[in-house]
Amino acid sequence: MIEKKVEPHIFVVFGGTGDLMQRSIIPALYELTKAGHLKNNCLILGTARNADLNDKTFRQMAREILSKISLKQKDISNSWCDDCLFYQSIGEEKEEDFAALGERIRQLEVKHNFPGNRIFYLATPPTAFPTTIELLGKAGLNKSRGWTRLVIEKPFGRDLESAQKLNKLIHRHFKETQIYRIDHYLGKETVQNLLVFRFANPIFESLWNRDRIQNVQITVAEDSGIGKRAGYFDHAGVLRDMIQNHLTQLLTLTAMEIPAKFDVESIRAEKIKVLKSIAPIKTNQVAFGQYVEGDINGKHVPGYLNEPGVAPDSTTETFVAMSLDIANWRWNGVPFFLRTGKRLPSRLTQIVINFRLPPVSVFDPLGGSDVKANSLVITLQPDEGFDLCFEMKALGEPLKIETQRLHFRYAEAFAPLPDAYQTLLLDIMSGDQTLFVSADEVEESWRLYTPIIEQKPPVYPYPAGTWGPPEANRLFEEKKISERD
Ligand code: BG6
Repeated sequence: MIEKKVEPHIFVVFGGTGDLMQRSIIPALYELTKAGHLKNNCLILGTARNADLNDKTFRQMAREILSKISLKQKDISNSWCDDCLFYQSIGEEKEEDFAALGERIRQLEVKHNFPGNRIFYLATPPTAFPTTIELLGKAGLNKSRGWTRLVIEKPFGRDLESAQKLNKLIHRHFKETQIYRIDHYLGKETVQNLLVFRFANPIFESLWNRDRIQNVQITVAEDSGIGKRAGYFDHAGVLRDMIQNHLTQLLTLTAMEIPAKFDVESIRAEKIKVLKSIAPIKTNQVAFGQYVEGDINGKHVPGYLNEPGVAPDSTTETFVAMSLDIANWRWNGVPFFLRTGKRLPSRLTQIVINFRLPPVSVFDPLGGSDVKANSLVITLQPDEGFDLCFEMKALGEPLKIETQRLHFRYAEAFAPLPDAYQTLLLDIMSGDQTLFVSADEVEESWRLYTPIIEQKPPVYPYPAGTWGPPEANRLFEEKKISERD
């Protein structure tokens, strides 16, 4: 095991009072401290426009967040907040505000005898990225006497052109080796384990191809709606919000070749090769949906158009199903189905590898004709684990064939899994870019989906609490695939 080494640094968060900071970043930083990764080596400097906040009130905000997640840890969190948390307003985001920010960073470094290592985390709405990056560059904060890293949250662009423009702007001020583009799915333990599972278990790797696999189905279903995020979501839709990033990451990790080494360059290169091999997506390979009112778990929920903040005539998609063809030697002819949506019946993230049926069933003449294909079900949420489904003879006569499962669950074998943000923050602090998206990868992925966005496929209604519009089934039927349970 390689121990992650964290050198002393200042961790600056833009959007320091925002939703992401409160929901994910503060709790993750605190957990990393508790776990002993951050001892006197990380000072957190929150920044936001708010000029009324100061160190004291910022710490108070953090205490309130932490008290909600772990009441018992009060003592640790109190001293952690006082010792490690600071606040600096960036006012109207003018050049002088960034000069003042630079000065504050330097003061902290001198006081704590830090070597000048800095992380700038952009946890703001994406509209603020260009100005912040430009001003960081102008203030000379893109470099320091130590190392400087830039962290950018998704969404990275809205289409190919905007992603290229953003990459260009960032590269004017930062080198690619300084940049950490976040996709929080890559921080999930089970997602990382996909690579170990595939490349440390040759019994599966030798089956992992078009000879043995009939189709691959990747589902990220959410029972929640869009909450208070209409302002963002109504301009994005699930294709941009989920498919272009999270589902595409699951796809590339499932389909990629064995990297030459387990390092950032080799893994990134293989993922990009998958994206480049995907045949252009045609409109008939895609089904878009939007939820209307319906029932989920006995609760009646409003339709998308009645969610607060959504335009009354919005055609934004809340569901997407698509089939992709990876035209390479390993996968040609094996459809990869991606499916995601809001207000589906349950929260479920799964990759299902459906193997081929036996070429001939010798059981047919005996009445045991109901042989199902083997499948491997990789569950990422809600209960992380693997199930290998295989056929067995049921007890007794007459002959009856039944599916059984080899069942593995992380929670039963290991301690509770860390939150994705803890993993990703620790990687940023220790300078490991493996779980972050490169400029080429993000552009390649937009290159794939931008034509579909531009074609604006029809958006079909589906009642909340169902698995999407019936039109989505067409994709499966066209490939003559029936879904397992
Ligand atoms: C975010 C999306 O990136 O991922 C949200 O913006 C979505 O719309 C969320 O709900 C899902 O993440 P998870 O980890 O809960 O599956």
